[in-house]
Parts: sequence; structure tokens; C-alpha cells
Amino acid sequence: MNAPAHSWAGFWRHPRDRSTEHNTLAYWVDLARTAERGLFDGVFLADVFGIYDVYGGNSDATLHAAAQSPSHDPMLTVPAMAYATQHLGFGVTANLTYEHPYQFARRFSTLDHLTGGRAGWNVVTGYLESAARGMGFDHAREHDERYEAGEDFLEAVYKLWEGSWADGALVRDKRAGRYTDPSRVRRVRHEGPYYRVDGFNLADPSPQRTPVLYQAGASGRGKAFAGKHAECVFLEGQTPAIVAQAARDIRRHAVDAGRAADDILLYLGATVIVTRTANEARELHAEYAEYVDTLGQLTLVSGWTGIDFAALDIDEPIRYVKSNALQSTVENLTKRAGRPITPRDMARFDQIGGRGPFIVGDAHEVADQLIAWADETGVDGFNLRRLVMPESLQSFVDLVVPELQSRGRYRTAYAQGTLREKLFDGRGPHLNATHPGARHRIS
Ligand SMILES: Cc1cc2nc3c(=O)[nH]c(=O)nc-3n(C[C@H](O)[C@H](O)[C@H](O)COP(=O)(O)O)c2cc1C
Repeated sequence: MNAPAHSWAGFWRHPRDRSTEHNTLAYWVDLARTAERGLFDGVFLADVFGIYDVYGGNSDATLHAAAQSPSHDPMLTVPAMAYATQHLGFGVTANLTYEHPYQFARRFSTLDHLTGGRAGWNVVTGYLESAARGMGFDHAREHDERYEAGEDFLEAVYKLWEGSWADGALVRDKRAGRYTDPSRVRRVRHEGPYYRVDGFNLADPSPQRTPVLYQAGASGRGKAFAGKHAECVFLEGQTPAIVAQAARDIRRHAVDAGRAADDILLYLGATVIVTRTANEARELHAEYAEYVDTLGQLTLVSGWTGIDFAALDIDEPIRYVKSNALQSTVENLTKRAGRPITPRDMARFDQIGGRGPFIVGDAHEVADQLIAWADETGVDGFNLRRLVMPESLQSFVDLVVPELQSRGRYRTAYAQGTLREKLFDGRGPHLNATHPGARHRIS
């Protein structure tokens, strides 16, 4: 996230942490080069529009702790990272709720051009009331309605990306002085329940046309949405059983939507602390734990769940409420937790209930656990949570990647082509024919 903190509040205070430099290109370029050295699929850029103000009904603790605040635009960092790398993909989060498809399609087409076809879009609809108020609305859209609006938005951008410019429309014939063949550019007319578009995509088709679509819907409605639209899905869950169930559900939704189960790659959010020896790793874990900002952490969890933890006793078990924020997080913390979880648990570094594997060890132990999680749950990969930056990324690249490679569980070189071609070996740069967006393609 283009902010001093993402999932964990407080590490910016660690003497070796460079997160306060998130407003510089050098920070992002270094990060991208390290990730590419580690042959990562991509950098995932989270973005949460709005400020956390559920905890105690105000933003004081959030601002004090730099809990996802200050928050800068993630997309603007990408061209610099793309210029400094050749293969790395970029999963950029953009909240569609406060965008218009006509404008948005052009911006992502531009990004896909500038990255040479390495752009991905993490489709989110937002969960903070503060964003709605900031944008001039009285309230955020209701949870399931956000997904309905998302369906409409995607339909509109698919038409712009896939159905506006036919292949070969761009002629660039210098001698004839003809840049574009107007007969091959089609006006899109979209009349949906939420969005209307009458015009063609202002940008010519980028290498992938539609960026690789990432999503993380985890509620019932969210999983159906992911099954229909997503090519990559981020999962969370504190036990293999919870994750395996979510993975099965999403793949089943994909099949129900007329796609194949393996049309979707699943990435499980994981926290990894690795050093050369297991003892050192445990020491580092204890050292990091001292920098977790408890109040900052509680403001984050309050924002995710929509529950004001300041109003609860610190040892009072969290009870299920139907939330208008992240419903799946509330369900994981209550119905599926297996034991009562309290605000005190939520603020603890390694106990952040409802979120996912927390692995501490040497490279051998970390590889063992990552492989066990992958095999037990059926996920395709991991989404590493940022800790102390850049050392937590560097140590993963230097220690865990070679260990996984030696076990034949990690690539040893990048494939050629766009992000989509690298992720889905042997397929083309564009959406798969069974994807709903491909319906809008013109020839
Ligand atoms: C790994 C991961 C990253 C996410 N990143 C973002 C983000 O950057 N911005 C955002 O608004 N929501 C983000 N979300 C929230 C999801 O978009 C979604 O709202 C959430 O998983 C809950 O789904 P549900 O509302 O269907 O329960 C993320 C979720 C996961 C699991």
C-alpha cells in the first residue's frame, strides 16, 4: 500500500524500516527490483479509499499510528517500477465505486500500454463510510449492492476494452497519412442500472486489453462475483480448513459461471519471518512484535469489520454482527474461529484472527509450511504481507525462494509475454474465451 503501513500498524518506527519513504520513487523501484530478483509474479498494491474512523468514532488513533494513513495513489508508482523491471506484474487496487467506466477504462489501458502488458486490476468496491462521506454521499452502498454495481461497472469496461477497437484498427500508415481506420472503431453503448456509457474507449487496445483481474470477495456474494470475473483471487483464513473451503467454493462458482476451475489462481495472504537460523527467526519475531502499534492495529480491525473495538471490553469475545464492511472477516472471527476471539487477540502480532498463516523460521521450515498450506488448501501461491521494509522482502527472496526452487516448487526463470501469459502458461495475452468479458470482443 502506498502508505506507511498496510496490514500491520507500527513498523514504520522500526529503525531499519523504510516505509516512511513511500512518497519517493526510489522506494518503489527498489521494491520492484527485489521482487523481480525473486521471480515474483507481481507486486500487489493495496489501496483503501477513505480513512479508518470506526474505532472510537474518530480518526485520531489512525492518524497517530499511521494506520493506512497518509494514503497516496498506488497507480502512479507503477510506471517507474515497470521501467526498472522487465517481467514483474502489477496488481493495482482500484475502488470502482467512485469511478466512471469511461474514464477508468482509459486509465487502465494507458497503464497496460506503459507496462508492456503487465497491468492487473484488483477489483474492490470499498468498505469505509468515510470514503462515501468524502465523496459527497450520505452512506456507503450496502454490501451486496456494491457487488451489483460492480457487475454493471465491469460490463461497461469490458465493452470499452474488448468491444470498442477491433484488431487492426490502428493502421499508422505514414505514407497514406492514416493513423486509425475509423470503420474498425466501434462506439460502445451501455445502459446499465448504475452506469451509462456512450462513446468508444479513448485509448487504443493495450497488450492485454482487459488487465488481469484480481479480486478478493469472500462473502457468499463476493465469492460468486470472484467465480464469474476474477482470474486471480486473494484468500484469507486462519486454518487450512477455512481456506480450503473458500478455495473450493470459488472454483465451484467459476465452473457454475461456465469457466474452468483452473481459470482462477488463488493466492493466500501469509506473513513470513525468515532468517538464516530458526533461533534468529524467533528472536526477530520477538523484536518485530515490540513495534506493533496495538491501538493502530485495533483501528484497522475496527475499519475492516465495521465494529468499534473501543466500545468493547478488551477481553470480551467478538460476537457476530451482520456488517456492512468486510462480512467475511467478521464471519471468520466469530462463526468459523473455533474459539472465542477478543479485541486483545486482534491486536496481537501473531494472533490476528481471521487472516492467515503466520510463519516464523529458517528457510527450510518456512518452505515446509508454505508447501503444507498449499497442498492442504489447493491454493496456487501466496500474497506476502509486508512487515519491516525492505528487509522482510529481501530475506524471503534470498532465503526462501532458493529453498523452494531446490524442491521444484518455484519457477527458476520468467516465461515471456504479458502478465496474463506468464500466469497462465500457454494461453494468450487476452481474456480466456469463456470469460464473461470475452463476449464483447469484436472482429
Ligand atoms: C489479500 C486481500 C487484499 C485486499 N485488498 C484490498 C484493498 O486493497 N482495498 C480494499 O478496498 N479491499 C481490499 N480487500 C477486501 C476485498 O476487496 C473484499 O472486500 C474482502 O475480501 C471481503 O469480501 P466480502 O465483502 O465479500 O466479505 C482485500 C482482501 C484481501 C483478502
